[in-house]
Amino acid sequence: MPLLSVDAISKSYKDKTESLSVLSKISFGLEGGQFCTLFGPSGAGKTTLINIIGGLDLPDEGQVIFEDKRIDSLDERSKAKLRASTIGIAFQNPNLVVHLNVLENVMLPSLFENREDRKLRAISLLKRLNLESKLKKVPSKLSDGEKRRVSIARALLTEPKLILADEPTINLDSENRDAVLDLIQEATEKGATTIVATHDEDVSRLSDLVLHIKFGQLS
Ligand SMILES: Nc1ncnc2c1ncn2[C@@H]1O[C@H](COP(=O)(O)OP(=O)(O)OP(=O)(O)O)[C@@H](O)[C@H]1O
Ligand SMILES: [Mg+2]
Repeated sequence: MPLLSVDAISKSYKDKTESLSVLSKISFGLEGGQFCTLFGPSGAGKTTLINIIGGLDLPDEGQVIFEDKRIDSLDERSKAKLRASTIGIAFQNPNLVVHLNVLENVMLPSLFENREDRKLRAISLLKRLNLESKLKKVPSKLSDGEKRRVSIARALLTEPKLILADEPTINLDSENRDAVLDLIQEATEKGATTIVATHDEDVSRLSDLVLHIKFGQLS
């Protein structure tokens, strides 16, 4: 079995009057060191799939297994632990903590560890992302592209084995876009399993696997 196995995932959103089928029996597998790009029109289900793989949302059917752990059936505490150590998620909406500064936001996954090496890594990631002058700024003082780069640094802080990046290059100029992609690519070369949801066709040149979602299915 591959390191990451996404097996027959289906998901619908239901309310009182209707049910919207978003994912229908999605299956694929990835090894460590592999980079997968997820394309699909807006509303196709990329974020839904990323959230299910990261344990933030539950599938109606199917399973997600990473390193022999079935992510979709872990309890909330175990999932939170996994997200603090093994899984790095860069959300489509960077959702930073408003009262923490940039450096503190990046350090969040490591908040209770008090590790100097993590702090040095946070600063080094922020430098690579051209944010060294913003370390002490709170999110309300940042541009959207700066917030996005902070969320990328946060996702990569713990050197996660599984990287899920949802539209990581949106709102970025070409220099910062390349800086983001270089960091994600380097982490993958060091052995991470990486999935990037994007509308950026250029990202596919980095990919070992390119998936297209449309009408709930992969092609
Ligand atoms: N919590 C929710 N409740 C109901 N419907 C939802 C919910 N979240 C997403 N959807 C719907 O599910 C579909 C897939 O949404 P999703 O966010 O996964 O798309 P996406 O491929 O990430 O799109 P984009 O490229 O715009 O980010 C959309 O039609 C959306 O309206
Ligand atoms: Mg999305």
